[in-house]
Amino acid sequence: MTKMIDPSTLVLFGASGNLSRVKLMPGLFRLDAAGRLHDDMKILSVGRGEVPLEAWRADIKGMLDAKFKGGYDQKVYERFIARNHYHANPPSDPDAFNKLRDKLADERVFPQNLAYFLSVRPTDFATIVEQLAGVGLVDETNYWRRVLIEKPFGTDLPSAQALQAALTKHLKESQIYRIDHYLGKSAVQNVMLTRFTNAILEPLWNNEYIDHVQITNNETLGVGDRTTFYDATGALRDMFQSHLLQTLAMVAMEKPKDLQPESIRAEKIKLLESIRPIDVSNMDKQAFRAQYAAGRVCVGDGHGENVPGYLEELKRDGVDASNTETYAAAKLFIDNPRWKGVPFYVRTAKRMHEGNTAIAVRFKKAPMLLNDNQHQNWLIINIQPRECIKIEIESKIPGLDIATRTISVDAPQRQADDESIDSYETLLLNLMAGDASQYLHINEVLAQWRLVDPIVKTWASDTRAVHQYIAGSRDPLESKVIFENEDQFWRYSIELGGDKH
Ligand SMILES: NC(=O)c1ccc[n+]([C@@H]2O[C@H](COP(=O)([O-])OP(=O)(O)OC[C@H]3O[C@@H](n4cnc5c(N)ncnc54)[C@H](OP(=O)(O)O)[C@@H]3O)[C@@H](O)[C@H]2O)c1
Repeated sequence: MTKMIDPSTLVLFGASGNLSRVKLMPGLFRLDAAGRLHDDMKILSVGRGEVPLEAWRADIKGMLDAKFKGGYDQKVYERFIARNHYHANPPSDPDAFNKLRDKLADERVFPQNLAYFLSVRPTDFATIVEQLAGVGLVDETNYWRRVLIEKPFGTDLPSAQALQAALTKHLKESQIYRIDHYLGKSAVQNVMLTRFTNAILEPLWNNEYIDHVQITNNETLGVGDRTTFYDATGALRDMFQSHLLQTLAMVAMEKPKDLQPESIRAEKIKLLESIRPIDVSNMDKQAFRAQYAAGRVCVGDGHGENVPGYLEELKRDGVDASNTETYAAAKLFIDNPRWKGVPFYVRTAKRMHEGNTAIAVRFKKAPMLLNDNQHQNWLIINIQPRECIKIEIESKIPGLDIATRTISVDAPQRQADDESIDSYETLLLNLMAGDASQYLHINEVLAQWRLVDPIVKTWASDTRAVHQYIAGSRDPLESKVIFENEDQFWRYSIELGGDKH
């Protein structure tokens, strides 16, 4: 289904920042090259500094050159660069937003449907919306006005509620587009489609047949030079609170009545609100945290590299102690009839032996067991590094004896000539098309914080030394404490048999 796009102006706050350079400007360029931008669409970058238009356009050219090293179509480039304008909003100028309104009022240049992309510090989100509202720039009487809020939306439940209260003084829910870029990934969208467009999955997708589900995001990378940000955030808030819970919602939600954004979001909200709150009095059995110690990780070309531990990296940057987790795993239950009693193990970690984002579903024991070690069926939806779907089943070993072995049906979901779309391209297009299905409703955000906050708080006040794992290793053995049954084990990527650990 091709999206209908109105003529609009994208007003990009923070256009000189890292996100804009690496993702937004190149993403908009690719949308233009694909013919997905309206002919009249304009981009107005807003920054604190005075930058002449020609210098700003030269800066954009630099962003495109850096991204598209193989070059790009000159005609598309000329069309794209002509869409771009710049407006200086120095914080010292009390009239800055009036000037912005006056600039945008020129209808010959700027279409009056306005999408604001706030690619700025989270502390600036509410202030910018207030200032836009103060000069009438979010008024929807004649045209639509939408505001995209980058992540994070709050750092806990109270701060998310406070941000929401500040935004809704000026905006309706339908005007707010809260980002979780995971939802822009084709492979994540495919989870829902794979479930609901195949008759063979739905009858099995419940507690009668499923033993447990694992949702994993592991990286080989460490925190790098982001120690200050990471130490204040941790794995739970950085990855688990939104990306992994959103993935879980895709795996476990009921079928939406149609593919309208409201219908999809309504089912996700229901699901997220039915995750059982963590029992903090029993935290040690439900959630596990750890930090990476010095070790050796595999780098891109397959070679090993010695890397320092998390605490050493902090020390380098002047921080002496920390109990912030770089590994977080939790067991969640969903209190609805479909999932009663099925554990969902959700984990994320840095400096693991492999980078992998995957959903692994283990089925219950088969009706016929030839021996105690018979492999249980797994279905794996692998998101990164390889998009594939894999099913492991038992099959007779040809020969005189009655014995089975596990075979695997492994289908790439991405084919050689498929388009490769960055998640920000999808999200930018949907912002302009008014499709909020891949953006978060406030009730999703609040449900996610409600779930995560008690774990964050309990861990913050727990003064016991945080478990250490060697960089480049697999899950700490101690993390198995969260498993419901002794026969459960962490599943790794794509290896046949799940590589018991
Ligand atoms: N980078 C990523 O990959 C990424 C990923 C996920 C989420 N995000 C989110 O996206 C947003 C932008 O990220 P970013 O990495 O692009 O940020 P950034 O490079 O640090 O800054 C973005 C812009 O904010 C303005 N700015 C920076 N420091 C400021 C200050 N002290 N006072 C006022 N304005 C200041 C600058 O714009 P001017 O100087 O032009 O005014 C800058 O270009 C953030 O909310 C971040 O959490 C980023």
